[in-house]
Amino acid sequence: MVGVTAPYAGTPLPVVTLSVVGPGATRQVAGQVARRARSGDIVVLVGDLGAGKTTFAQGFANALGVTEPVTSPTFTLVREYPLDRPSGDDSPSSALATLFHADLYRLDTLGDVEDLGLAERVEDGGVAVVEWGDLGAPVLGPGVLTVRLEAGDEPDERVVVLEDGAGRWRDRWDDLVGSLAPWDPVVAVGSGRGVPTGGAPTVPDKLTSPSKQEAR
Ligand SMILES: Nc1ncnc2c1ncn2[C@@H]1O[C@H](COP(=O)(O)OP(=O)(O)OP(=O)(O)O)[C@@H](O)[C@H]1O
Ligand SMILES: [Mg+2]
Repeated sequence: MVGVTAPYAGTPLPVVTLSVVGPGATRQVAGQVARRARSGDIVVLVGDLGAGKTTFAQGFANALGVTEPVTSPTFTLVREYPLDRPSGDDSPSSALATLFHADLYRLDTLGDVEDLGLAERVEDGGVAVVEWGDLGAPVLGPGVLTVRLEAGDEPDERVVVLEDGAGRWRDRWDDLVGSLAPWDPVVAVGSGRGVPTGGAPTVPDKLTSPSKQEAR
């Protein structure tokens, strides 16, 4: 399972909301997240078809030095990018060795998600961005950073909501929010969706969501 730091006992879960106009800006936001990523992190991307999940993954990968094209891993399920960071890069993410880009859209059961072994694969120098990651939430665990992309008022606008589900990003949160200043971040109290309750997951094993059932 993903390593989870102590939940925010009695304190609000941090959520930050941004208005991001155009795919280039979404890539820049992703880059700010990527530069603060650490070994073992899983970033879950949530949003309807065409919301910008792959666009976010591209910006994330580029910021980690990936120069090859980053495309949706819909059919391969997981793409792996070795990270060869330029010398002199002392950002926290510079120790990362591998980026995993996954897409859970085609998977049917939580067992299928488990078989991808993402939590284990990121353990030693890895980081993962997971499209349709909410579908695998019970397997990926509460320690993920959730990035929700929703339609905005304009065609090229996305409302981007970042939520640190269980405090894994607590010591980098203020720095991350500061880096998002160009997009007027609004900090709010979270929903607590990701916090473990100690009970068994109530989500059925079959992955279903209304938006997943649309034609693709
Ligand atoms: N602010 C924005 N952020 C991201 N993408 C944007 C934005 N504005 C417009 N777009 C466009 O929206 C589309 C997003 O496509 P993308 O493949 O990233 O979505 P997706 O969420 O991965 O879709 P899918 O569920 O099919 O994998 C692109 O064509 C992109 O140019
Ligand atoms: Mg995609």
